[in-house]
Amino acid sequence: MPSTDRMLVTGGHALEGQVRVSGGKNTAVAVIPATLLCDEPCTIENLPDIEDVHALADILKDLGAKVDYIPGKSMVVDPRPAEGTSVSYKNAQRLRASYYLLGALLGRCGKAQVPTPGGCDIGTRPVDQHLKGFQAIGADAGEIGGLITAECNQLTGGDVFFDIVTVGATVNVILAAVKARGTTVIYNAAKEPHIVDLANFLNSMGAKIKGAGTDIIRIRGVQHLHKTTYAVIPDQIETGTLMIAAAATGGDIIINGCIPTHMDALSAKLLEMGVKVTDYDDAIRVHVVGPRRAINVKTQVYPGFPTDLQQPMSALLTTAKGTSIVTETIFEQRFRHLDEIRRMGAHVRVMDRTAIIEGVPELYGAPMTATDLRAGAALIIAGLMGRGVTEIYEPGYIDRGYEHIEDKLRSLGAVIEREPIA
Ligand code: UD1
Repeated sequence: MPSTDRMLVTGGHALEGQVRVSGGKNTAVAVIPATLLCDEPCTIENLPDIEDVHALADILKDLGAKVDYIPGKSMVVDPRPAEGTSVSYKNAQRLRASYYLLGALLGRCGKAQVPTPGGCDIGTRPVDQHLKGFQAIGADAGEIGGLITAECNQLTGGDVFFDIVTVGATVNVILAAVKARGTTVIYNAAKEPHIVDLANFLNSMGAKIKGAGTDIIRIRGVQHLHKTTYAVIPDQIETGTLMIAAAATGGDIIINGCIPTHMDALSAKLLEMGVKVTDYDDAIRVHVVGPRRAINVKTQVYPGFPTDLQQPMSALLTTAKGTSIVTETIFEQRFRHLDEIRRMGAHVRVMDRTAIIEGVPELYGAPMTATDLRAGAALIIAGLMGRGVTEIYEPGYIDRGYEHIEDKLRSLGAVIEREPIA
């Protein structure tokens, strides 16, 4: 649904001070469906107060689970009354991660139906590897007429060889296999921090998952999962977005409550640009001390440079001194934000999956439209750097994944507000 309001960002204010990062979106959207696998109520803490989390709470309620959700605090899910096996089209369209209900429902009751999910339009995003994984552990799985289905009387552990590294399919197979009979081994698994966090969550309920964070994950099926209270890890991408925002505005900020090692790929690139980055136990300081130099960036699976930070990073590079080359290897349509930032005076050429960015001394405020979640974050970064006022339409995309982003940026000295569109 189109947003009825817009964001107004007045650029030129260096960010300064301290800010706390929220719980991880990509962990939250895997952990919430995973509660369906539990045989008792479980409590999840540190969930970000974002639209994707609200959507998943609604989906679990629709399936019949009892959900007590206090936004910004905790969610208690009692999955025992849940009898549903299908997600409605309307709910599936609200977020990409609605397809985690496939693995969760298949693992819970041997049957799942989820319409092809919505979420960010950043490329084709097929589900062939998810289906291949379900089939490898005995399920009948397919996609037809916009509906993804998976069914099995008794899931049986097996070897799953992914052709490519995929976060989504790794999560889905873990969910489906956790209560299967026997052992499932995932080869070429994704290693992102949220995969490790999902495994830790499931293990805290009695699951037997080993190897999460490496490219071979072993899941020994268990019959029962018991209650747990679990706090999700801090958001890697929000942390990175705030780091880039500090670098973009010539600022000096400390981001508290983050995991600095998750940020190594970004920190290395900021250091290469000439920005000072200092790691503490659970905080990072980003401090601009001089001009920012152009760099080359290539997105990779973890621990490489995350595709989700490519968009904010390429926005920052529009004002770095020299020519930067940004190569997007994960999603084919992840440069649409640069078309918008060109309106602010950026010099950018996009050829297929490569963007050549010639840094300009200054950007000028302009009206722009967010086309997806991280594109929206990129437009905010550009707005923070621009002279004058930048109007960002469709801020609803940003609300899907960033908790109270305006409040956080305002607390650091940014001038940013939201107003209804007249
Ligand atoms: C997840 C993240 C998203 C991030 C992305 C890459 C969540 C909720 N979302 O998305 O923020 O940008 O990882 O780090 O965690 N692919 C196939 N077939 C499949 C599955 C994927 O070809 O069956 C392709 C995709 O089109 C893409 C690549 O594999 O080109 C990686 O996708 P994947 O890691 O699955 O991304 P998501 O799980 O959708």
